Amino acid sequence: MGWKTLDNMDLNGKRVLTRVDINVPMEDGHVTDATRIERIVPTITDIRKQGGSPVLLAHFGRPKGQFVPEMSLAPLVPALEAAFGCTVTFVERPSREWIDAQPKDAVILVENTRFTPMEEANDPAMAGFLATLGDVYCNDAFSAAHRAHASTAGVAHLLPSCAGRLMQAELRALEAALSNPKRPVGAVVGGAKVSSKLDLLMNLVEKIDVLIIGGGMANTFIAAQGGDLGASLQEADLHDTARDIMDKAASAGCRIVLPVDGRVSREFKAGATSEMVALNAHTKLASDQMVLDAGDEAIEAVEAEFAVLKTLIWNGPFGAFEIAPFDTATVAAAKAAATRTNAGQLITVAGGGDTVAALNQAGVADDFTYISTAGGAFLEWMEGKELPGVAALMQ
Ligand code: 3PG
Ligand code: MG
Repeated sequence: MGWKTLDNMDLNGKRVLTRVDINVPMEDGHVTDATRIERIVPTITDIRKQGGSPVLLAHFGRPKGQFVPEMSLAPLVPALEAAFGCTVTFVERPSREWIDAQPKDAVILVENTRFTPMEEANDPAMAGFLATLGDVYCNDAFSAAHRAHASTAGVAHLLPSCAGRLMQAELRALEAALSNPKRPVGAVVGGAKVSSKLDLLMNLVEKIDVLIIGGGMANTFIAAQGGDLGASLQEADLHDTARDIMDKAASAGCRIVLPVDGRVSREFKAGATSEMVALNAHTKLASDQMVLDAGDEAIEAVEAEFAVLKTLIWNGPFGAFEIAPFDTATVAAAKAAATRTNAGQLITVAGGGDTVAALNQAGVADDFTYISTAGGAFLEWMEGKELPGVAALMQ
């Protein structure tokens, strides 16, 4: 069992129903970050080179099965045309008849698949209807593959199906990072909350050699060991869970690295005065002090870890990186990882939520081996879960 690629399909003269994820940030009707659009270009180009014509299916936002004008895909047409270098024809209510009347080399964009509740319900009638719109199905939406929807999963069973170029690249990169990595393999897992990354931590400690914890999550671990972190963000109800994760890591042979010091401040604002404080079971902060970033010694220790790793997975920042100086640790560590990547000593794979924004801020996004376009799907993959959109391509 495996998935096919565009190379395995006969696309000549075919309408290729292509699921993409163009759920991009927009302001005032304009795309503010076109990364997801740029990353589907190879798929569109290759389909057209093989004589196929793409019929694009995509969602935008969460309209909850209703028509929501602000979530129409129509305003995306200019950005798609600029990226693809050809005309894109938008259609609100497609039919096979209408599609067949379009030029043989047309690129067609179908309105937001989530404007009907049948999409998220993975309704067989919707999957059946979508299947009439193409001769072949190509899924290039890895970042929506954690959804079992009609356009991501249901329709894949009804047509000859394959993975697009971006889907292929995402799966290869994530397999190289987690399924069969060059060892030692480590992960940086940061961000605010342990609660949102429990499954991720539990799965990772079984698969990797070193787990480096950052952000508010690290506070919860330090507090679970007895440290008093004052007003720092932490989840007091998760101390037992944090200890369970540490026990599981110990028995799985995964070392957990927590920040040995932190940048502490009394206010969370740009340029706030801060000081370095040692973080451990004996730390006692004042009730109005907050740990807002990992400290200098912590980052030195992290860089020493990076120096021996061969593979590094990165999800989440070390501190409150949106506001200087609390971006210091994230930027320094990201630069260290980038340097080793550029030297050919480390494979770096990043994804999920805030991560890409943090790496962009550090100016290293182009230096990492692979940056996933996925948020939730990246996390679910790292949690070891089967992604319905990927499973549906297995034939
Ligand atoms: C994303 O933006 O992460 C994907 O497009 C999935 O969107 P969803 O979380 O609304 O399913
Ligand atoms: Mg999301």
